[in-house]
Amino acid sequence: MTDQLAKKSEAWSARFSEPVSELVKRYTASVSFDLRLALADIEGSLAHAAMLHAVGLLGDADHAAIVRGMATIRGEIERGEFTWSIDLEDVHLNIEKRLTELAGDAGKRLHTARSRNDQVATDIRLWLRAAIDDVRGALAALQRALVGLAETHAGTIMPGFTHLQVAQPVTFGHHLLAYVEMFARDAERLADCRRRVNRLPLGAAALAGTSYPIDRERVARALGFEGLCENSLDAVSDRDFAIEFCAAASLVMVHVSRLSEELILWMSPRVGFIDLADRFCTGSSIMPQKKNPDVPELARGKSGRVFGHLVGLLTLMKGQPLAYNKDNQEDKEPLFDTADTLLETLRIFTDMVAGIQVRPERMRRAAAEGFSTATDLADYLVRKGLPFRDAHEAVARAVRSAAERGVDLSEMPLDALREFSPLIDADVAAVLTLEGSVAARDHVGGTAPRQVRAAIARHRARLSAEPGGDAPSGSVEA
Ligand code: ARG
Repeated sequence: MTDQLAKKSEAWSARFSEPVSELVKRYTASVSFDLRLALADIEGSLAHAAMLHAVGLLGDADHAAIVRGMATIRGEIERGEFTWSIDLEDVHLNIEKRLTELAGDAGKRLHTARSRNDQVATDIRLWLRAAIDDVRGALAALQRALVGLAETHAGTIMPGFTHLQVAQPVTFGHHLLAYVEMFARDAERLADCRRRVNRLPLGAAALAGTSYPIDRERVARALGFEGLCENSLDAVSDRDFAIEFCAAASLVMVHVSRLSEELILWMSPRVGFIDLADRFCTGSSIMPQKKNPDVPELARGKSGRVFGHLVGLLTLMKGQPLAYNKDNQEDKEPLFDTADTLLETLRIFTDMVAGIQVRPERMRRAAAEGFSTATDLADYLVRKGLPFRDAHEAVARAVRSAAERGVDLSEMPLDALREFSPLIDADVAAVLTLEGSVAARDHVGGTAPRQVRAAIARHRARLSAEPGGDAPSGSVEA
């Protein structure tokens, strides 16, 4: 190792007459966070080295030394023995320096036909691809938990709300499946995003490509990329794939946040539809009776940081001229935090949803209280020949009268109901029950228990093709 290599900032120091100040060094270094890319960096470097070897730019001995050196480095990183140095700025220079210590000149040959610009773009894509797969697994697991609870409660009746006012009875299973649909679309968006993440920037070099006879397709195949980021200027500079991931992640968090809001509401003693297992709640240091739904509240709050990361990355990108600019170093922390937040939230929700204790009697009582079968009475009159608008009017008057008497429609004497329409007969009783109401909505996407069970079967079939939620993590990460 030469003296020059041992010095800090050895990658470019020959051009400079003085070292950067300590402050600037700390300001510009990224190793404290981009070390998470270490295993992706090694994977990318090995594919690059194999290509250089295959096209005759790297001899057998040098290639073998690089492969051996990288295996050593990987072991050091995995065992937590690798010494990361801020003097070496980022993950790429840290690993390259160590490789050169281990493999001598072979280490210095690795950077032939490559720049940190295409290197870092490749690393992020490898890392994000694995993160997307983890998130998709976690999303599938959460959907399975929701489907399981929906099956138990395919026939459990609760009030459905609009404007947070009791609207019509629905089944709790049906309500839960609404979230399954949301998360299913989120999974689709992530799968779609993955296709654009999964392209190879390497070969773009600094910005213009390289004068060496490289084989980009070979590197792409070795790394499992589906294609190339073709234009070299675009390859090293755009981070739209990361923005796209954060946008998809933001929608996941929107859905998580809506579910959180409902769980919090349902758990409020005033509503009392559900109880969350104690391990997801905390008490109060002053009020002994409290059991607070901390986990959903925190998830609702964490949606804010994920949206923030999306806006941060959009802003990071918007003013940049082509090609690579150091601004892009700021892409990593938001991206990492987005993936971490998403994964942790989805995993904790899977556990929490599976352990929800439901209080069907509370749900039922609430559904029975708000004249939730009024629409059914109107539909009944329509079936007897009354125009819908007139039926609506008649039932509205009946509801007002029932409210004045302090009873539900189903508790009104038949004679009293007939005052509002002579078309009402004894057979109205079946129509005014909660069970009759939900069972009547018996078409694809309706709330009838039969339809809920059919939807569950469709979701189960779809989810069997999704990644298993408990499968070992595929993360490419230090
Ligand atoms: N740490 C840098 C980043 O994250 C790597 C690329 C540096 N390239 C450069 N020309 N300074 O973007």
